[in-house]
Amino acid sequence: MIIAQMTDLHVVGRGQLCQGRVPTNAQLQEAVVHLNSLEPRPDVVLATGDLTDHGAPKEYDALREILGPLRAPLHLIPGNHDHRDVFLEAFADHAYLPRPGAPFAHYALEDYPVRLVGLDTTVPGQHHGLLCDARLAWLDATLAAAPARPTLIFMHHPPFRTGIRWVDAVGLHGGRRMEAVVARHPQVEWVACGHIHRPIQVAWGGTVASTAASTSHAQVALALTEASGFEFGYALEPRAVQLYVRDPGYGFVSHVSYVSGAGERYRPGSAERLREDFRHRYEGLCRSEFDAASPGRRP
Ligand SMILES: [Fe+2]
Ligand SMILES: [Fe+2]
Repeated sequence: MIIAQMTDLHVVGRGQLCQGRVPTNAQLQEAVVHLNSLEPRPDVVLATGDLTDHGAPKEYDALREILGPLRAPLHLIPGNHDHRDVFLEAFADHAYLPRPGAPFAHYALEDYPVRLVGLDTTVPGQHHGLLCDARLAWLDATLAAAPARPTLIFMHHPPFRTGIRWVDAVGLHGGRRMEAVVARHPQVEWVACGHIHRPIQVAWGGTVASTAASTSHAQVALALTEASGFEFGYALEPRAVQLYVRDPGYGFVSHVSYVSGAGERYRPGSAERLREDFRHRYEGLCRSEFDAASPGRRP
C-alpha cells in the first residue's frame, strides 16, 4: 500500500499570491499533476492541514477546484490556518468528516489495509495546537478498538520539539501526553504531521513521528542556533509530497517525492551495462536477506 501525504498547501483566493509572493495555488496544481503521474499510483492521499492560508470560503472554493483532478481518494484534516467550521462546510460531501459544528474534525478510516486515524489538533483563532483530555481520550479509545490493525496517525501539529524555536513556540500542547497514549498501542507504525514545512523524523512513543515539506516553495528556513531560532523566516527550498510505502512483511519505508525537478531525469552513459550488473549480480545477494521477516519487527 502507498499512502501519499501533502501538507501546508496554504491555498489563497484565485489570482492571488500567498504572503504576496508565493504562487501556492499554481504549486498545488503541480503537486496534483505529480501525484497523478506517480507509478505505482498512491492508494490514498492525506492532506494534513493548513489547506488554506486564512480559512476563507473563497479559498476553500479554490482548493476544491485545484484538488478536483486528483485520482486517488483524498482525506483532509485542518491546520491552524484553517477555519474548522468553514472547512467542514466546504467539504460536507466528504462522508468520513463530521458535520459542521462538531467539536473536532477527527476520524478513523477502516477501509484500507492500514488503519488511518486523522487527529484534529487545532484551536480556533490560535496558531498553536492542543490535545485536550477529550481528544486524548478519543485517540486512546479509537486505538484500543483495533489493536491488531497496523495504524498510521496523521495530524497537523507535530507532537515533538523540532529545535527551530519559533515553530516550536506555536507547537502542540499535550504532545508528551499523546506519546504516552501511543506507546500503549504498538500497532501505531507511523505518526505523519505537517505544520513545520520541512521533512523531519523522530523516534517517538515507540514508533516514528515525522513532518513533511510543504507543497509550496515556502519551506521553513532551517535555524537551529539560539540566536537564529526566533528568526521568523522561510526558504525557497524544493517542494515535495511524502510517500509511505508499506510492505506487509516489512512495514513502512518513507520517501520524500520532490515535485520540482521530478521530471528532469538523466541516465549515465554506462546505464545499460550497470543495469545488467545490478539485476543479475547484486540484487540476488541483497534481496534474499531483506525478503525474510525482520527479527526486530513487532507483531
Ligand atoms: Fe503551514
Ligand atoms: Fe500550521
